[in-house]
Amino acid sequence: MRLLLLFLCGALTAASARRTFGIDYENNCFLKDGQPYRYISGTIHYFRVPAKYWEDRLLKMRALGCNAVQTYIMWLWHEPIQGHYSFSGSVNITRFLTIANRLGLDVILRIGPYSDAEQDMGGFPAWTLKERGIQFRTSDPRYTQLVKTWWDKLLPMIKPFLYTNGGPVIMVQVENEYGWWNPIDKNYTSWLLSVLSLFSGNLAQSHFGDGIVYFTTDPAQPALVKGGHIEGAYASVDFGSGLDEKAVGDSFKIQRIVSPRGPLINSEFYPGWFTEWGEKYVYTPASAVIKTMNAMYALNASFNIYLVHGGTNFGYAAGAEHIGDQPFHTVTTSYDWSAPIREDGHTIGKFFEMQQAIHALTGKPIRPLPPPIIRQAYGSIEMRYYGTVFDHLKELTLDKPVHSRYPLTAEDVDHYYGFLLYEVKLPKDAKITINATDAINDRGDFFLNRRIKLLSTQRAQSQQTVFVIDRAHYDLDENQPLLLSILVENQGRICYTPRLSDYKGIVQNITANGKALEKWTIYRISFTDIIRKLEEAPEELQLRVRESENDLTSMTKFIPSLFVGEFDTKGRTVGDTWIDTTDWGKGQMFTGKAFGLGRYWPSKGPQLTLYHPMVQAGKNQLVFFELDKPGNCFGKKCYAQSVLNPLWIQ
Ligand SMILES: *[C@@H]1O[C@H](CO)[C@@H](O)[C@H](O)[C@H]1NC(C)=O
Ligand SMILES: *[C@@H]1O[C@H](CO)[C@@H](O)[C@H](O)[C@H]1NC(C)=O
Ligand SMILES: *[C@@H]1O[C@H](CO)[C@@H](O)[C@H](O)[C@H]1NC(C)=O
Ligand SMILES: *[C@@H]1O[C@H](CO)[C@@H](O)[C@H](O)[C@H]1NC(C)=O
Ligand SMILES: *[C@@H]1O[C@H](CO)[C@@H](O)[C@H](O)[C@H]1NC(C)=O
Repeated sequence: MRLLLLFLCGALTAASARRTFGIDYENNCFLKDGQPYRYISGTIHYFRVPAKYWEDRLLKMRALGCNAVQTYIMWLWHEPIQGHYSFSGSVNITRFLTIANRLGLDVILRIGPYSDAEQDMGGFPAWTLKERGIQFRTSDPRYTQLVKTWWDKLLPMIKPFLYTNGGPVIMVQVENEYGWWNPIDKNYTSWLLSVLSLFSGNLAQSHFGDGIVYFTTDPAQPALVKGGHIEGAYASVDFGSGLDEKAVGDSFKIQRIVSPRGPLINSEFYPGWFTEWGEKYVYTPASAVIKTMNAMYALNASFNIYLVHGGTNFGYAAGAEHIGDQPFHTVTTSYDWSAPIREDGHTIGKFFEMQQAIHALTGKPIRPLPPPIIRQAYGSIEMRYYGTVFDHLKELTLDKPVHSRYPLTAEDVDHYYGFLLYEVKLPKDAKITINATDAINDRGDFFLNRRIKLLSTQRAQSQQTVFVIDRAHYDLDENQPLLLSILVENQGRICYTPRLSDYKGIVQNITANGKALEKWTIYRISFTDIIRKLEEAPEELQLRVRESENDLTSMTKFIPSLFVGEFDTKGRTVGDTWIDTTDWGKGQMFTGKAFGLGRYWPSKGPQLTLYHPMVQAGKNQLVFFELDKPGNCFGKKCYAQSVLNPLWIQ
């Protein structure tokens, strides 16, 4: 590989009129069009930012002093259903690349197929789990065939955007932190590279060609860098803020184990970190970021700030972590990351401190910022009770319920994200011991006869769920039928570590007095239809609620329920807002157009507010699917707030 690249460098200098990009091993730098090149890049994930703001965020990144942008391509967004591709609207990757190109930002693409990035299943679409026993990130042909089919679709779209073809893409990362994986399968990673490149593959298979640098990224630890290294791809490292010159030098020495010459690269330089529900939000001060940035720059390193702007895990997209013997945890809806450009696009003080520091390093003029994004606080929003999940089961059920002898997983019934309701009849015994140990991924709410809340379970390391239903306790004799309902919430698939095969829904049999329960009905819960109906014919739904039990007594029975509110932009410039959920329990939030603003869980924290960038002129409906308890109630009225700024529990 060295020989090939050295030859390339020579060719670059000779024909500098051609658009070329490569590595100068002699001078430990990149060569772009024959000239020495280095980058200060920033990561923005297009799939975490509303498409209308891509240009705004990229302009801000450029104003920070970046000359390149790095993003993952997140498979799950582009092939949500096997063989059904999506490249439009909020995941129009060619549009994102076109804007970057127009703004003069070079692009570093992390093409996967695995990404992590704290997304559901690290970016793998959940339908890949339908192939039972599939060995992810290995040469297992069941897996590589899926990757091949996906890349055959993706790579021709990327090709015109390569630098040598007149586009902005100078580098392509293969896999992601593969050194962490266990077991390491170098056949697999070499195969990935061969599909992508000429370097180690055969010509007929190649999608790209020379003139771009393929690379790997691993944490700066010898075993990880060696494990992740692919023969023919350039190895880089990642590490965070707060490191002084010595520590930075030591980290790059680890890159030198596998990349003895060539540019030093930190592909993920962390100015902050992500937050999980139940953790603390950690603010990383600019001083720690600048100290390490200066040290890297002094060593002529190129680095990528991961992240310059984090964005939002809208809908159900946030992934989960379940590392070693630590409990299962979901990443918050906010992916703010303590980044210099806040989740709502606001440039915080840290942005300007970093901007000055980068300016001092590069000496390049500071580019102006685009006009600020308007934000508004629309005040109190009364959230009216609209009935329980059972009141509206018809509207909430996607297609028809599925019938099965034994429970099926979410993947089995092609309902990859969100909620499922499972129902089964119980035996006639006077006392029934239910054993649902390790059967529920991830939260289960158990009900008797659709009226009595029995208990709620939350996935943990080891979860014993055994309880007794005593008919006498409910004044029910053996002739009266008992229906067990279990509402199961998928809280995001594990995105990191070997536990990637994270099936959701009911994943084991549930027994009653030692015998597996049979004849299940499975409802796939979707909020799209009911939200449309709430806009078109709310009276009808309201009537049904009134006929059942429209009062706080039923609300406080903690049966998952819908709450609907409205705010009006009347008399004000339309602007984005933050929805404060303080004092509510846990649930899912939607706009009136059924756009998923994400999970809220203020009772767990630390995130209290959800970013709402979809405000439209006039009336805006807001829908909560609340699992635990309504919040901010005074008498029979409960409220949420529209506020200007994000709030975190300290
Ligand atoms: C992506 O955006 C470009 C530019 O706006 C547009 O021409 C193209 O049709 C879009 N692609 C898809 C699949 O919608
Ligand atoms: C890698 O490929 C070689 C040659 O085909 C084979 O001998 C070896 O067992 C493979 N290793 C793995 C981990 O699949
Ligand atoms: C950085 O690059 C410059 C210009 O090529 C060179 O003079 C200097 O020695 C390099 N510094 C380090 C620490 O490699
Ligand atoms: C419940 O089921 C689990 C898993 O099958 C089993 O290990 C456990 O012993 C059962 N508990 C009781 C009380 O039967
Ligand atoms: C449930 O039990 C049945 C009967 O023993 C068995 O065939 C089936 O595989 C079990 N399902 C799971 C998910 O363990």
